[in-house]
Order: sequence, then C-alpha cells, then structure tokens
Amino acid sequence: MSKDKFLWGSATAAYQCEGAWDEDGKGPSIWDDYCHSTANLTGITGDVSCDHYHHFKEDIKMMAEGNQNTYRFSLSWSRILPKDDHVVNEAGFRFYDELIDECEKYGIVPNVTLVHYDLPDYIGTWTNPKVSDEFAYYASVVFKHFGNRIPLYTTINEPNHNAYCNYCVGNYPPNETNLQHYCECAYNMILCTAKAVKEFRKLNLNSLIGIVQGCGPAVSLKDDPEYLEAVKYCDYFCNDWVLDPAIKGILEDELIEAVKAKGIDLSFVDPNFKDIIKNNTIDFLGQNIYSRMLVKPNTSGITSFTVNNAGNNDGTNNSARETRAIKDWFEFDRDENTQLNKWGREIYPKCGYITLTKRKERYGNIPIYITENGHGCYDIADENGYVEDDERIEFLNNYLQWILKAKEDGVNVQGYYVWSTMDLYSWINGYKKRYGLVRVDYEDGNLKRTPKKSYYWYKEFIKKYQNI
Ligand code: BG6
Repeated sequence: MSKDKFLWGSATAAYQCEGAWDEDGKGPSIWDDYCHSTANLTGITGDVSCDHYHHFKEDIKMMAEGNQNTYRFSLSWSRILPKDDHVVNEAGFRFYDELIDECEKYGIVPNVTLVHYDLPDYIGTWTNPKVSDEFAYYASVVFKHFGNRIPLYTTINEPNHNAYCNYCVGNYPPNETNLQHYCECAYNMILCTAKAVKEFRKLNLNSLIGIVQGCGPAVSLKDDPEYLEAVKYCDYFCNDWVLDPAIKGILEDELIEAVKAKGIDLSFVDPNFKDIIKNNTIDFLGQNIYSRMLVKPNTSGITSFTVNNAGNNDGTNNSARETRAIKDWFEFDRDENTQLNKWGREIYPKCGYITLTKRKERYGNIPIYITENGHGCYDIADENGYVEDDERIEFLNNYLQWILKAKEDGVNVQGYYVWSTMDLYSWINGYKKRYGLVRVDYEDGNLKRTPKKSYYWYKEFIKKYQNI
C-alpha cells in the first residue's frame, strides 16, 4: 500500500460508528458509561450507531467506488484491552484485521488513530495519573500487532478539543468546568503521545506516527499589540501545548509561567517531563479543519466557554454561538461578514489556507494530512433515501480550493479526509446533525446506505486532482 501518492479519503471514529458496544468481548468505555447514565439527558447512545462493526465491508467498498484511496478510522481501546489486566481481546484484533484486509483489497491506505475521545472505563478520565503509562502499553500492543500494515498511526484525536469539552465546557464526560483539571488532562495527553512515540520507535517500522490537532491557529481582525497578545494567549490555550511538544519536543517557559500565573498548581509535573518530550517527537501532523479561532483582547473580564454541541444547541438560529473567553488572556471576536452554521460555528473557507501556512511558519516542512474537514447539516432525503446536499458540496469545494492553494504555495500537504465517510453519531448532537458522504437510514431496520450527491461530487473531484 503506497502512502507516497496524494491521499484522498474520508474519516470516522470508533465510538461514533462501530456500534456493537458490548459484542465479542469489548469492555465498557467512558462514552458507553456516560451515554447509559442519567447525565445523558437525551438518552441517545452510540450502542448501534450505523453499525460499522457489521457493515464495514459495504462501507469500504463504497469508499473504493468513490475513488477514495485512504480511510481514517480509530481503534476502540476497550475493544482491544477490555479490562485493566493487560490481556488482549483477540476478537477485537480480529475485527480490525478484517477491516484492514478489506482496505488492502481495494488499495485503501489505513490511517489509524489510537484514541478518538473514548477511553476504557477502567482508565476513567484523562486526569488519571496512570493514563500515559497505560496508553503507552496499549500503543505498544497495537504497534506490535499491526506493524507496517498500518502506514499512518496517530496518537490522539484533537487533544485540545477533547480536553476543552471534558474540562472547560463540560459537555463531554466527566462533565466538569475546572481549569486545574484541564491542565492535568493536557499534561497527560502530551505524555501519552511522547510515550507512545517512544514505543513506536523501538520497533523500527516503516510506518509514520503523528497527532491530530483540532483547532486552527488564533487570528485577529486587528494587528495592534493588544490583539496580538490575545492571539498569543489563545494559541497557548488551543495550539501550542499540543503541537510544540509533539513536533518540536518543547513547551515554552513563557507558556508555563502564564499557566502558573493563572493560579494552576503544576506540582503534578514529573521532573523528567522535559526530557521525555524532547526525545519523542512525531513524523507528521494531522490537522482537522473546521473554523478559525478569531480573538480579541478580553474586555469582558470573564472566563466562559460554549461549544457547537453543548446540549442546549439545537441547530436552530437561536443556538449559542461557539465562543471561548479567558479573563485577561483573550475572548472570541465576531466578524459580522462571516456566515455561521446552524450550530453557531463560523463557515470560513480561507481558514484552511491560514491554518496550513501558519503551521508551516511555525513547524517548517512537516508533512500535513487534513485529517477532517466537513459540514454538519440537517439532511433531507427523498423517497429513495437520496440527499441533494448542495450546501455540503459548496462547503467542501470552497475549503478545498484554499487547501489546494496552500499546497501550491509550498505547504507539505499529503492528504485530505472528508468528515465523515457515512452518517454517524455526532457526540452530544446525536444523529440529526449529519456529516456523511453516504446517508444512513436509521429508521429502516437495516441501516441502509445511500450515497449522497456530495459522494458523487467528491468522486469526480478526486478523479480530477488524483495526481497532484
Ligand atoms: C471533530 C471530531 O472535531 O468534529 C469528530 O474529531 C466530530 O469526532 C466532528 O464528530 C464534528 O463535531 P460534531 O460535534 O458536530 O459531531
């Protein structure tokens, strides 16, 4: 399987699509527990979702027929290591082996994320001091089993967004608003990546290892000193703590001092921390592209966070806008010329270009894969299940033009993935907010798949740009 040509594909995540939540020896995960608990006010779960566990052959065939040559998916940690005894569930490996067999059959390159938001319930939370050693063990088991069959591994999906939802907004388990815990979680995530990279290097594989970052860099509408200061602090909060250690093997002292000045107790930091991150950096960056971080100085004097999938956001125009603010650091700005989606998030295609060129500015020529780009909508299907999703096509096409321009202008872009391969569970938004290139009929009892207009559009787009 060649990862040398440009990769065109689409992406999913285990909890969001697999279903089969307790089948074939899988252990419970924190999202199983959360969705089954009273904290889940909607009662909606990923127990079945689009049942990729039983439909993966059909899903991968459809990808191949759509000219896609790569598939980004994640592994369920608790399917592979269901209990805290380190004993592997062979049926878990068997499922992913068969899935990769299917990819190989069509020449589809697997791009595999070790953790996409979901931890085994015996780990509990990202603040568990044992999480990085447990993660390193899990990672080593995975690397040894799959080896070069997986050409692209990534450690964690969107550490920042994950930590942010867990500990700032509190809409993901453990549903807290606690900046001290946000920092402990962030620290553990940094260590998880470094320790997994260490395990990876021991095996001298031909594969590459990376991380997936969710946010784009912070930007502002003005470039006076106060605005640039706000940009710097937003980048500390959203970007630098994830990418500086992972790519450059450092965490700037100024960032650490700024965190301490916020009253965060950093006594949990291991004295060897700097050495661990210095020696274990990644090979490539996975960058998800949705929107920019548009910021200004914090004049409100408040710290507050809302996100596009907080429980109160229902996709109407009354939805809370996606914002974040940290007292004395920054707050989100609003550009009235920029459209918002129904969940209060900016639709700003140029952020693809800005993100990629700024990444190159800070991190040089590192290979970059756009690991997610997609548009959530309330799709309307006709009587045959067909969706004319022109809005999604317009979104993808506009973003892609800017992404391709960044590539032309010298950013080392190696691949692109639409979020998502087919409709799946959209975390707190449940199933109504859809992103798929392929529609899933959740009502018909068979979870029937029907490619949308965007699927056929993407198929042609890939054909046109396959040799870039
Ligand atoms: C990305 C996540 O940030 O956004 C996906 O990696 C997620 O898992 C996607 O589904 C869209 O977000 P949401 O909340 O609208 O499903």
